[in-house]
Amino acid sequence: MAWTSDLETGIEVIDNQHMRIVDYINRLEEAINHLDRHSVGLVLDELGDYCLSHFAFEEHLQEQAGYKLAVEHKATHENFAKRLGRYQEKYKAREDVAKQLHSMLSTWLVHHIKRDDMAYVPEVRGGIDRMGSDRQKGDWLTRSVAGFFGKDS
Ligand SMILES: [Fe+2]
Ligand SMILES: [Fe+2]
Repeated sequence: MAWTSDLETGIEVIDNQHMRIVDYINRLEEAINHLDRHSVGLVLDELGDYCLSHFAFEEHLQEQAGYKLAVEHKATHENFAKRLGRYQEKYKAREDVAKQLHSMLSTWLVHHIKRDDMAYVPEVRGGIDRMGSDRQKGDWLTRSVAGFFGKDS
């Protein structure tokens, strides 16, 4: 799956996280092509963890900005996390779901970014702008990202 400019929200920290999710999806594709079941499992776990951190971070930004559809957005994330969880269960039960999972992931991500994530951009960007100077914004973002993703993110 290729990263294309129509997936850019213009909020750098979010775009970097989305690109990383695309990387995971591509690693999954590679593992599938190599018939490497072990790697499929590893990527699945890492991708799941990373998505949950990304969702929590987005939800935090939305809350901080007072985004009006924050509750609906969170419900969409939770719904996806459940779907992913079901795939993980199937994988563990040795069902061959990797290809189906890969197509679900790429379709969902593109759709979610274009429809749901793009919708919060003006308000979240406004929220970030209201934080003060560039340094204050930078400090806040660094702290938040470290809080959700760990220090080496
Ligand atoms: Fe997102
Ligand atoms: Fe989202």
